Amino acid sequence: MRKIAIMGAMPEEVAPLLEKVENIIKVEYANNSYYEATYKGKELVIAYSKIGKVFSSLTASTLLEKFKCDTLLFSGVAGAINPALKIGDLIIADKLCQHDLDISIFGHDFGFVPEGSKFVETDKHLRTIAKEVAKQSGLSLIEGTIATGDQFVASNERKEFISKNFEADALEMEGASVAVVCDALDVPFFILRAISDTANDDAGVDFDEFMVTSAKISANFILDMVEKID
Ligand code: ADE
Repeated sequence: MRKIAIMGAMPEEVAPLLEKVENIIKVEYANNSYYEATYKGKELVIAYSKIGKVFSSLTASTLLEKFKCDTLLFSGVAGAINPALKIGDLIIADKLCQHDLDISIFGHDFGFVPEGSKFVETDKHLRTIAKEVAKQSGLSLIEGTIATGDQFVASNERKEFISKNFEADALEMEGASVAVVCDALDVPFFILRAISDTANDDAGVDFDEFMVTSAKISANFILDMVEKID
């Protein structure tokens, strides 16, 4: 049977999951808490990593290597770049990139390092399941590029840089690092985000107001997906 990892970055992103799953066993490991649990007969391990690329890489690696999860789903919030995305809307990543990775002085594209790639693609089958869930529940879902960096973006100038160099639809702080880990370990993964802000001057205020409700929208969607993964 599959063992599905579900991770977020912040406590608010996993709290709605922990409210609904059953048979929770808390395991402390590497300065973090991991929650083994079941949901509708599926085996899960749930954790939040803390914010940013380093902590999320550590948690993703631990979920796969120590807990032996064979599928990883990420649930959380993001800032919108694509104007079609409004607060509360859902985006699934078809590919992810690191917008703050910069060795352009040596002639490389932003986001590229030798022996790496500018974009990492997510699993197609998991995206198909997400589209089925969206259709059945009447929710709209945008599929697009998510850009990740170790900064909370709250400026139109930075948004435009990311839009221009990566054609990204949304931005956040963990997806691409989780993608690199899962891709390297050949584990199918999926990144879902609900919009909490539009990464402009008001982003800090919007994030504080909408993060909890958007995190719940994302978490509930993820649990509907879990039911459909076989
Ligand atoms: N996550 C949600 N909103 C964000 C923003 N504006 N910048 C980075 N990460 C985010």
